[in-house]
Amino acid sequence: MAPKKSEAAKYTVPGMSTSDGTEVATMLQDRLNALTDLHLTLKHIHWNVVGPHFIAVHEMLDPQVEAVRAMSDATAERMATLGVAPIGTPGALVATRTWDDYDIGRATAIEHLGALDLVYAGVIEDHRKIIDATEDSDPVTQDMLIGQSAQLELFHWFVRAHLESASGELSTSGATTEPQAARKAGSAAENQG
Ligand SMILES: [Fe+2]
Repeated sequence: MAPKKSEAAKYTVPGMSTSDGTEVATMLQDRLNALTDLHLTLKHIHWNVVGPHFIAVHEMLDPQVEAVRAMSDATAERMATLGVAPIGTPGALVATRTWDDYDIGRATAIEHLGALDLVYAGVIEDHRKIIDATEDSDPVTQDMLIGQSAQLELFHWFVRAHLESASGELSTSGATTEPQAARKAGSAAENQG
């Protein structure tokens, strides 16, 4: 059985204490889980999107999948560099994540984008917390997370641009769950059409 929890580092990068190395890697395990979850979810949407905007959204998502997979890889390799074994198995991800599975199946492009707005917001918010937390202990990890966040925030804007009215309001504003965000986005699009 795969280990559910990484062990403390026996060594880490020069200039860092092994306890700091372990602490940073532990935070990175959660980011690795979030990024792996995100690229799988993006493919799920790529496969399940239907309706008039199918091809635009279907094709928009693949470069995001590729970029987020590369972020997972860099995050796992940073953990290994810090002396802690990254855990990349699906069972461990599901057992340790603090968020629910994406719960929209076949749905219109705009409904998926509404739900994806919330998904991106969650990942980006948590990335920013770890950017703050690594400020003193590991600027190298922090730099990696800053680079990832810039890309994630850009992708989030690609999503939000579909949900934004000409006056600059988001149709998903105030939604706290994915189904709710999907419904709000869907009905705003219907009212416009
Ligand atoms: Fe495909």
